[in-house]
Parts: sequence; C-alpha cells; structure tokens
Amino acid sequence: MDRARIGLVGLGTMGAALASNIADKGFTVAVWNRTTSVTRDFAANAGALGPRIIPAESLESLVAAIRPPRAIILMVPAGEPVDQQLAALRPLLDPDDMIIDAGNANFHDTERRMKAGPGIRYLGIGVSGGEEGARHGPSIMGGGPRADWDSVAEVMEAIAARADDGTPCAAWMGEGGAGHFVKTVHNGIEYADMQMIAEAYGLMRDGMAMDAGGIGDMFARWNQGTLRSFLIEIAATVSHTADPETGVPILDVIVDAAGQKGTGRWTAIEAQHLAAPVPVIEAAVMARNVSALRDERAAGEARFGRAPQPVTMPLDDLEQALIAGKILCYAQGFAMIRAAGNSFGWTMALPEIARVWRAGCIIRSDMLNDMAAALEEDATRNLIFAPFFAGHIESALPALRRVVAGGIGAGHALPALASGLAWFEMMRTARGTANMIQGLRDFFGWHGFDRLDGRDIHHGPWAAVE
Ligand code: 6PG
Repeated sequence: MDRARIGLVGLGTMGAALASNIADKGFTVAVWNRTTSVTRDFAANAGALGPRIIPAESLESLVAAIRPPRAIILMVPAGEPVDQQLAALRPLLDPDDMIIDAGNANFHDTERRMKAGPGIRYLGIGVSGGEEGARHGPSIMGGGPRADWDSVAEVMEAIAARADDGTPCAAWMGEGGAGHFVKTVHNGIEYADMQMIAEAYGLMRDGMAMDAGGIGDMFARWNQGTLRSFLIEIAATVSHTADPETGVPILDVIVDAAGQKGTGRWTAIEAQHLAAPVPVIEAAVMARNVSALRDERAAGEARFGRAPQPVTMPLDDLEQALIAGKILCYAQGFAMIRAAGNSFGWTMALPEIARVWRAGCIIRSDMLNDMAAALEEDATRNLIFAPFFAGHIESALPALRRVVAGGIGAGHALPALASGLAWFEMMRTARGTANMIQGLRDFFGWHGFDRLDGRDIHHGPWAAVE
C-alpha cells in the first residue's frame, strides 16, 4: 500500500467519521487511537474503504505510514489531551510536518500552541456538523498560515459539505487561531438560534396552550419560508417525536436544563474583551445557566407563583420576530468577527465565513446565502445596513416589538429576542443616554467628558455645586 496522504489521531465518534470521510473521497489515511483495539476494530469494519485505511499501532508507525511532508489531524478532546498528544508527536515529526487540531479548541490555546517550539507547522480548524457532518460533509473553518492551509486544502475541500451552488464549505478564515475563533462564534450563534427557538416554543406552549404536535407543525411551516434552516427543521422533528417509553411527546419528558461544553460561553467572554456587543448570544448563555438552576427555579415558582400567563399573538408575528431576531444576532456575530480581525490582525474574509456556514454546519440556513451576498457587497458594513437585511428588519420590527412586549407583559422570559431588540433600538438612536453616565462618572470620579458644542471644557461644575 502507498503511504498515506494524511494521518488522523483519535478514533472517537467524530474522528472515526472524519477518517471514513477522508477515505471515501479517495485519500489514503493512516489512523491511530490510544486504545489499539479501537484502531483494529475501525480498520476491520471499514468495508470497501479498507484499502485506503492504514491502521497504526504506535505513533512511530503512524508517522512512518504518512507521506512527507506529513499532515496529521488531531481529533481528541479539547484542552489537556491536545497538549499531551502534541508532546507525544512532536519528537517524531520533521520541521515541515504539520499538525491540524480539528477539535473545539479555545483559540487562545491554538495561538499558544502555534507559538510554542520546536517548530512544526500547526493549523487550527473548526469542524461543524456533528457525526453526520464529519462522515458525509462538515463545514470546515481553517486557521493558521495560509500556505499551510493551502497544502491540505484539496483534502479539506473534498471532505467538506457543498453549498447548493457546488462550492465546498471549507475555507481559510485567517491567520493564527482564526479558524477556532470562527468556530467559537459559530457555536455562540448556535446557542442564540436555539434560545430564540426555545423562546418561541415557550410562547406557544405556555402562552397559547399549543401541544407539541401543533408547535412542530408551526416550525415545519416556518421551515418552508425565510427561516428555512437545519435548526428550525429539527425543531419541528423534535416537537413531532413521541417518547417510545410512554407515548407522550418526547419534549414533555425531557428535563428543562440545558448542558454546555463551553463554546457559547467563550464567545460571550471574547465579545466582552473585544467590546463587540453580542447580546443575543450572551442572553442565550445566561439562559442556559439559569436553566441549570432547577431547584432554585422551583423554589421561585413556589414563592412568587408561575410567571408565564396566556397571551394572544398572531403566529405570523412570532415567525417575523424570529426572522428579525436571527438577522440581529448574525449582524452582531459578524461584527464580533470583524472586531477580532482588527484586534488580532487576522485577515477574516467575512463573505467566505458566511459561505462556509451555508451547508454542513449546525447553523446552516438559506439566509446565509443572502448574508454572504451582503458581505460580498461590503464586508465593512454592519449587516443591518445591507439593503436586503435593512428591508427585512423594517418589515419584521413591528412584529418583534409586539412579540417582546406582549410576551413580557404576560410574564414570559424572552431574553434573546428582547436583548436583540434592545440592541437594535440603541443602534438606531443617534442621541442616546450615555451622556447621563458620563455626567455621573465625571461627578464622582472626575473622568471627563466631551461636549456636543466641541468646547475644550471636559468637566462639570460639580465642585461649585458642592
Ligand atoms: C457543531 C456543534 C458541536 C457541538 C458543540 C456545542 O458545530 O457541530 O457546535 O461542536 O454541538 O460541542 O455543544 P454544547 O451545546 O455542549 O456547548
């Protein structure tokens, strides 16, 4: 057998799926797993892909099985396991060999690892789409030196999902940790999209007394229109699914506490560092954290009574509110990516990012086609100012206001939709209210302010007042 085009370490669910995908696309792949029996089983069960899979039982034999200059994909859990694997591999590799971390790494770790000697080439790539995506076509967000990405681009593009126009959803996002950064923001948006879906679900379930089947029908209907996306589609499927044990809707037996591995939280933290507001994502992270406080929530209901009350609103309003919320959330996400590019000196091709998200990943949606086109027109402009989306916001805004006002008035918690709306109202207010904050800061701390008339006077007459 020829030596492999690429190597892969870590045959967990995602690693095994990605290795099969690579072999499926005609590349020979050498694989290694910490537990040798896993490697053996994977190769033994590879079926028709078997001839393009080289199982290695030691890291030395893995390295020997790959054609130099070598590229090795790491599919191990983010964090410490990546550092351990790097430490084990580095002594076996030549300086022009390359390690590709394809896990959900924190981009700060990726940057640190890139800078750490001794020199081997290092790429950090975000891979989205779950097991199904990894096996049949994920969305791939590459980060690191451009030339290093180019050296593996043929493999990445071959295994990636394809958008409707046939373009592979794999691209170089920028230098350094840009790939993992973009994947992190992807996950933050994933949290926000899901939170807005959950808020719409809550209004229908608790405000309009709709059952899971009826709610699923609404999601299915919305999936035929502007909201068409993977997450709305599976919201319909999940709503329509019955629990095999009891026969009741599965939603009615699932505990209302959402887990998280942390990527949404990282997005919110980085947004704060960058002073790039992403309130819809922050609200989604907050809501997951509150969801975990089950005992306290139960105590709260016992003490204060249950919050959500019946509410009447047209379901078309709810659809429009979700459309507006989605646009506002993505506008915030892309602005955050733009801010990161400026702050870290990364290239960050925004239209490319929107294109890569069009298929394969969890947040894939029809709207990303329009976002890619809008960013292509002008990548420096906030998406809310792109004529296509400005028009959408103008027509959906009254419904978003009605849904938020009506829902909140009836005791429904709508943190993501409400904070998206608040951000938008602020973004269209030329004369805001921070003059009060500046006055207060100057009063108690002599922090100074600028005057509207431009006069070179930067403090209030507070001393005189005292
Ligand atoms: C994807 C997903 C995937 C996973 C994350 C988020 O793009 O395929 O984002 O990476 O869903 O781990 O999971 P949590 O919700 O547990 O943070």
